[in-house]
Amino acid sequence: MAANWTPDSWKQAEARQMPHWPDATALAEVESELSNYPPLVFAGEARNLKADLARVVSGRAFLLQGGDCAESFAEFHPNNIRDTFRVILQMAVVLTFASKLPVVKVGRMAGQFAKPRSADMESIDGVELPSYRGDIINDIAFTAEGRVPDPRRMVRAYSQSAATLNLLRAFAQGGYANLHQVNAWTHDFMGRSPWAEQYRGIANRIGEALDFMAACGIDADSVPQLKTASFYTSHEALLLPYEQALTRQDSLTGDWYDTSAHMLWIGDRTRFEGSAHVEYLRGVGNPIGMKVGPSMQPDALLRLLDTLNPAREAGRMTLISRYGHDKVEAGLAPLVAAVKREGHPVIWSCDPMHGNVIKTDNGYKTRPFERILSEVEGFFAVHRAMGTHAGGIHIEMTGQNVTECTGGAVDVTQLDLADRYHTHCDPRLNAAQSIELAFKLAEMLNREMQERQKEAA
Ligand code: TRP
Ligand code: MN
Repeated sequence: MAANWTPDSWKQAEARQMPHWPDATALAEVESELSNYPPLVFAGEARNLKADLARVVSGRAFLLQGGDCAESFAEFHPNNIRDTFRVILQMAVVLTFASKLPVVKVGRMAGQFAKPRSADMESIDGVELPSYRGDIINDIAFTAEGRVPDPRRMVRAYSQSAATLNLLRAFAQGGYANLHQVNAWTHDFMGRSPWAEQYRGIANRIGEALDFMAACGIDADSVPQLKTASFYTSHEALLLPYEQALTRQDSLTGDWYDTSAHMLWIGDRTRFEGSAHVEYLRGVGNPIGMKVGPSMQPDALLRLLDTLNPAREAGRMTLISRYGHDKVEAGLAPLVAAVKREGHPVIWSCDPMHGNVIKTDNGYKTRPFERILSEVEGFFAVHRAMGTHAGGIHIEMTGQNVTECTGGAVDVTQLDLADRYHTHCDPRLNAAQSIELAFKLAEMLNREMQERQKEAA
């Protein structure tokens, strides 16, 4: 257990990105209400994820983490949850098939509500109001009333997370994720993408492999792994009063866990030295992610790793790099070298989304698919040169057919952005773009595997 840590010791440190709730009594009521609610995940599940992630550290698995930039109350619908879940599984199938590595599947789902902002205030036409900070804090509508932080929103976010997680568990365990289903998912995807044929090819080969194994006596009844998928949840641990209210001591080990999700990450804006967010997360036993970008120096990174993972446990730390397509190679290499030299066990995961935002002439915030792909290629190039494992990908995506990122095989043009631009925050890859990315990733991973085999021979 971490020394000198309590679930509220973060209050002694500098907490940036925290809203100001005008009604302190209402906040205290919500905090005490939430602290009596059931945990959303069990500590044992977080430990299982850590064990799965430890396999990624040693190059024996790949991490796929994806979902909305920000979940919202408005987009809460079973079909949205189902479609995002399905696309993550489709990506996982493509990646598993190509790399012959297990894929650890983690959703940015069931709790991804709070958003860090670059400015506290937003002004439109001379009117200045507090910035939107995510549905767990205030309303996206630009009205004086809507932008006042309301603590009751935390209770609503908790119930939406509980319902989302319940459905995800039902899908993962109840038969929807059965590998035999892979063929059925294809139908929906057909006609929407030039990759459909390639996907159908994989689905058919998986079908044949399953038929062959069934003839040998191995089927979904004898081997449950064929009909269930492991699936975990994650979000940015930004809103500390909410995370603290869901922090519980595990009855089996006595260790503390943040039971709002299996995995939590620290954003680029809240990982500075002396940060309350770092203080909070160092004391919980969950797997932890940390975003690293252009402002991160090797020595600062090593100090953070010593703070967050003093025991050097494999699977505890995932470093999620977000540089931008033209900065990743120069920026990432010194960090990888420093971490390798120090021997800290980490997963290197690539967030090719946040460094590649541009604003179009018609006023949309977008991310060109080619730049996303090019950052992933740069990320793989760094790891190839360093002899380290390109361990994972972290993306903002949705199962819906939105038009938020430009490019891809079914080309979304700048003019198309106006059609279906629904995000509450950053632009997301749509279903077809996500699966296309999975195919490209599969090629890169495959190459890593082949090079590794060559070296071993
Ligand atoms: N149980 C395995 C896993 O979770 C295999 C599996 C079952 C799977 N259904 C899946 C893999 C759907 C990817 C997608 O990895
Ligand atoms: Mn985002």
